[in-house]
Amino acid sequence: MSRSERKWDHIRFALEDRQNRSTVFDDIQFIHQSLPNIHVSDVRLNDVIGELSLSSPIFINAMTGGGGEKTYQINKQLAIAAKHTGVAMAVGSQMSAIKDKRERYTYEIVRKENPNGIVIANLGSEATIENAKLAIGMIGANALQIHLNVIQELTMPEGDRDFTDSLNRIERISRGVDVPIIVKEVGFGMSRETVESLFSAGAAFVDVGGSGGTNFAEIENKRRKQSLPFFNNWGIPTPISILEAASVSNGIPIIGSGGFSSSLDIAKGLAIGASAIGLAGFFLQILVEEGLDVLVEEIKNLHMELTMIMTALGAKSISDLKKAPIIISGKTYHWLTQRGID
Ligand code: FNR
Repeated sequence: MSRSERKWDHIRFALEDRQNRSTVFDDIQFIHQSLPNIHVSDVRLNDVIGELSLSSPIFINAMTGGGGEKTYQINKQLAIAAKHTGVAMAVGSQMSAIKDKRERYTYEIVRKENPNGIVIANLGSEATIENAKLAIGMIGANALQIHLNVIQELTMPEGDRDFTDSLNRIERISRGVDVPIIVKEVGFGMSRETVESLFSAGAAFVDVGGSGGTNFAEIENKRRKQSLPFFNNWGIPTPISILEAASVSNGIPIIGSGGFSSSLDIAKGLAIGASAIGLAGFFLQILVEEGLDVLVEEIKNLHMELTMIMTALGAKSISDLKKAPIIISGKTYHWLTQRGID
């Protein structure tokens, strides 16, 4: 099976798999404020995180690596949606286009469609500095995501088995390129120990990519008879992973992703410590099943709803939202207590 066929399989299975949503976000509750002392028009969604100036905390996370005509079409439409809504957009892994120049147009279209937007390149942790420079140059990227996908690789019979030296490569890349590095998980979450190692290796941001949304163990297990089913329930749920990361971030921005599909969960993710929230499967499903116009409307709607939630909480900015009082209960509380996180 070619790389591009395999990636199309990922898209099909990711869409089929979207019914089991995580409920861990229910553990986090905002405390209602009857006197928010704010006008809706006071609310601002823009923020500066590290070197990136974002007009919205919501962004389109990496999808559709692998090249081919389908990647081109999806990347083009996601880029148009990003431009119309002012959100940042990451592309899927560019390794196929690094190996085969004929694939580059499937990524370059993202910058062509959105010349002034924030566009983020993407590679795996096997990448070299030369790979990283090529990926960044290919789309004039404002940042580079390096994804960590150990569980996905282990679940694929043809996947990688050698996970040594990733941290050293990440460190070399972050020293060798002139855009910030975002190290991201792809749906299994990051522990605070991982986050500490990544920050000491020079990552400008981490995207915790927690469990509760697109599940690559399930996707890979479904694609074949021989499977590793115990990985289907592996990983750190997204809100818990954000809290783990925030506990050691020392002000370095944390990005939350994995299973976001509502404005309320986005607001909760920001309130517990994320500075931006990435959505992948939810946006892809809308695009593939309902089209570009509906995706644009949905992103605008998320912005409107987030503004309403922030108004109810008296939060004029994303940094105000981070100070909103919350209650943490259930499994998340239990986890934080055992890990000694306040
Ligand atoms: C992805 N994701 C991904 N991530 C990455 O860093 N490089 C990649 O090439 C891809 N490819 C990809 C394809 C498809 C079809 C999907 C749905 C996802 C992972 C993605 O960025 C994100 O980390 C996870 O999907 C979890 O977020 P959601 O989908 O639960 O919002």
